[in-house]
Amino acid sequence: MNIGIVGSGYVGLVTGACFAELGHEVLCMDDDPEKIAILKAGKIPIYEPGLEELIRSNVEEGNLNFTSSMKEVVEKSKILFVCVGTPSKPNGEADLSAVETVGKRIGDYLNDSKLIVEKSTVPARTASWLGEIIRTQNKRQIGFDIAVNPEFLSEGTAIHDFMRPDRVVLGVSNQQAASLLVSLYEPLNAPILITDVESAELIKHASNAFLAMKISFINAVSQVCEKTGADILKVAKGIGLDSRIGTAFLNAGVGYGGACFPKDLAAFVHLAEVNGYNFGLLKEVAEVNQNQRQIPVKKLREIYGDLNHKTIGIMGLSFKPNTDDLREAPSLEIISSLIQQQVEIKAYDPAAAENMKKLFPHVYYARDPYDCAADCDAVLLLTEWQIFRHMNLSKIRKSMNRPVFIDGRNLFDPVRMFRLGFQYFGIGRSSRSLAELST
Ligand SMILES: NC(=O)c1ccc[n+]([C@@H]2O[C@H](COP(=O)([O-])OP(=O)(O)OC[C@H]3O[C@@H](n4cnc5c(N)ncnc54)[C@H](O)[C@@H]3O)[C@@H](O)[C@H]2O)c1
Repeated sequence: MNIGIVGSGYVGLVTGACFAELGHEVLCMDDDPEKIAILKAGKIPIYEPGLEELIRSNVEEGNLNFTSSMKEVVEKSKILFVCVGTPSKPNGEADLSAVETVGKRIGDYLNDSKLIVEKSTVPARTASWLGEIIRTQNKRQIGFDIAVNPEFLSEGTAIHDFMRPDRVVLGVSNQQAASLLVSLYEPLNAPILITDVESAELIKHASNAFLAMKISFINAVSQVCEKTGADILKVAKGIGLDSRIGTAFLNAGVGYGGACFPKDLAAFVHLAEVNGYNFGLLKEVAEVNQNQRQIPVKKLREIYGDLNHKTIGIMGLSFKPNTDDLREAPSLEIISSLIQQQVEIKAYDPAAAENMKKLFPHVYYARDPYDCAADCDAVLLLTEWQIFRHMNLSKIRKSMNRPVFIDGRNLFDPVRMFRLGFQYFGIGRSSRSLAELST
């Protein structure tokens, strides 16, 4: 099958490479010529484990190609997956301008009947609006179908998530579109749910909202743990072992970020509002998340009062491990706040430092976690990269000016950290055992 991908970012590239791996002829298009030049030169513009190898082997096989020409991708493809970004407008509404541009260009170049698949995350009813745009633009009145196939992959495990999904959701308006899409996804042996287009669109927003709600729920519980002497790790385990609840997404920390949860939550709240429903529950989810992000700096101020000229090490910049993606990462807000307070920052991240340099060029970017911690008055751990789990904590402590360690992802055991000589703070961790140890 000739498949075209419009928008070759995190979702588009993974989708394109995986369909190529499944034996299809894939052409990935992007309107960013620099991105296409990098891809044509055999490199990839993002960090995603396994993606570079998958792209390289499929380019060598001749299954995968890249272009910056919209005309080429439309004319050559039987199915077109729209994978462009859908960021937030200031009022929370999804900014669909890239989807609109793509719709117009598809309308311009539509040369025969095709299936247009909306993979970008969009509010319910976007597919019918996109259909209208294509129809209005297409002067030759060529027929086409629109389907919705939301993507549920997570950055860092994207190839696995695409190839072994929990489910594939297909929103279609006729049997022909359903059969075509089912034939594409059947090799994955995953449950396939076929719905109408609006339900498929809404499933994606509701799924992300639910996951964000789980994170904010456990973060709110972590606040109560701190005040009552309970330990959030034990509490989360006790909650999660209930099979009706499950253990996933019950890790307390400095909050969620990334290209999806914050903006999808805002877009879902906005969609509900314009349709006459006040989704107060989700507003509170966002509010809890915002408060979590402020915990590390508040904690530093409790310890030091004035932070002027303190040196703080930041371990982990990306919004989650195994990605270089900084969109809505808690680190951005935390670093901005520290800079405003005249703090000297030393930052380390295994993949996201290069992206961060473009935003904060005056921060010192460390070679490794040891370089990051050396001479610091405190370390803030913001992303749970594997490298941090295995670092020599004793060496870290000895190199610090003051051994204050704020663990924003609860990576370490408070008692062990205390024994190593750290002044350790997790999120929602019991301070009772530490108090007992010190007496
Ligand atoms: N990143 C994720 O983990 C993830 C997971 C599931 C769903 N999604 C959704 O998928 C969509 C894409 O997300 P992403 O993270 O891949 O975004 P991204 O920013 O990494 O990629 C989008 C790409 O589209 C390109 N683009 C923009 N306008 C274009 C146009 N007119 N023509 C051609 N290309 C154009 C951009 O240059 C960019 O490369 C979003 O709606 C997002 O919510 C993302």
